[in-house]
Amino acid sequence: MSNWKINSWRDYPVKHVPDYPDQAELDQVLNKIRTFPPLVFAGETRHLKSQLADVVDGKAFLLQGGDCAESFAEFNPDYIRDTFKLILQMSLVLTYSASLPVVKVGRIAGQFSKPRSSPVEVKDGVELPSYLGDNINGIEFNEKARIPDPKRLFKAYSQAAATLNLIRAFSHGGFADLKKVHTWNLGFIKNTPEAKKFKELEDNIEKALAFMDACGINSDFNRRLKTVNFWTSHEGLHLPYEEAMTRTDSTTGENHDTSAHFVWIGDRTRQLDGGHVEFCRGIENPIGIKCGPTLEPQDLINLCNKINPQNEKGKITLISRFGHDKVSKFLPKLIRAIKKEGLNVIWSCDPCHGNTIKATSGFKTRPFNDVLKEVKNVFECHQSEGSYAGGLHIELTGQNVTECTGGAQKITDEDLSSRYHTHCDPRLNANQALELAFLISDEIKKNSSYSKNAVQAAS
Ligand code: PEP
Ligand code: CO
Repeated sequence: MSNWKINSWRDYPVKHVPDYPDQAELDQVLNKIRTFPPLVFAGETRHLKSQLADVVDGKAFLLQGGDCAESFAEFNPDYIRDTFKLILQMSLVLTYSASLPVVKVGRIAGQFSKPRSSPVEVKDGVELPSYLGDNINGIEFNEKARIPDPKRLFKAYSQAAATLNLIRAFSHGGFADLKKVHTWNLGFIKNTPEAKKFKELEDNIEKALAFMDACGINSDFNRRLKTVNFWTSHEGLHLPYEEAMTRTDSTTGENHDTSAHFVWIGDRTRQLDGGHVEFCRGIENPIGIKCGPTLEPQDLINLCNKINPQNEKGKITLISRFGHDKVSKFLPKLIRAIKKEGLNVIWSCDPCHGNTIKATSGFKTRPFNDVLKEVKNVFECHQSEGSYAGGLHIELTGQNVTECTGGAQKITDEDLSSRYHTHCDPRLNANQALELAFLISDEIKKNSSYSKNAVQAAS
């Protein structure tokens, strides 16, 4: 990797990284974090990359989801469990109906820093610096809370470590055993059409497991029936923190950002000559790139070549997020450019970030129908361009929130204030997320290239 160093990003312009009033205190915190244990290990990132390589080949599907921003206030084991349950439920829907393995990645255990559309927030004529995420400053609207405080990085690191610890226990300690599928249900989604459909699926799985058990194949003998791989990810926005978490693997000399298995570059920080791209080109982790309406095909090619000069499969995930009515204008030209260059990428769809609106009630929301439309349009586009729509990237929560309008519960503008808890963007609740999973499994079944690959993968 020519001229790359763990800190070479500091020689480039960097957007959306906070200015700390006390630089010496920040350095002290970062030096301490450098000595803390890694959260993930080099072998794990390699394993994830190999699973993602299967997605590139159309043999698996990538499901990535979680909070827009994790917060200190919403840190409790039930919330972690419910997000985990919901992602398991969604992936079961996809695996069962589309016969495709699902690579499960949470926006969790480190998803704190936020790029904001405006550096300031104005309320009742008072202007303050914007909230930037709990690892940087406080959401309370007062001057003191909004000052970036390096000590918050420690707290976020500890929260990420404890969250990941629980996820590892859930993934490998029996909770994810397929025999326990009925315990993955979230109480409040009973009696909805999605819950009924999921119950049918549960019953079918139970029958299949009983049959396999009778044949002597069960989770006592097959680890894969009782454990899952659940990977972590976040936007690699706070470069000083990411740098402090980056370690050189003693066995290979490779550099791994050990803050998460997968990091992505946001739509606002993907400048070819910016610090975020410079940092990401030197780490071995799989990298996501958000692709919004301002991304030109040639810039995308340059980005991929810079971050993945060897064209390694599983290294790059392109996460398109245009808005439901802009997909057909922007996505086909990017798909064609990538195809023409022969670049190995996963095409994932983020149907959330291009569909955020301000409701008349003043809340930021996402009409669920627009989210569904973006997914449908993206699948159609890939179908007609002959490429593989291999992933979904969404903001969701396992809590019964009212943040996005529509869906089976028919959440209205007036309902938003009832349970609006997000620290940043509005998230799909469990009903809406499951509805989306059922829709995607239908789309996958419709797309002939999926069935062809699934058959190949199974054979
Ligand atoms: C996000 O994923 O939380 C985000 C800010 O997305 P984008 O960079 O696509 O706007
Ligand atoms: Co967001």
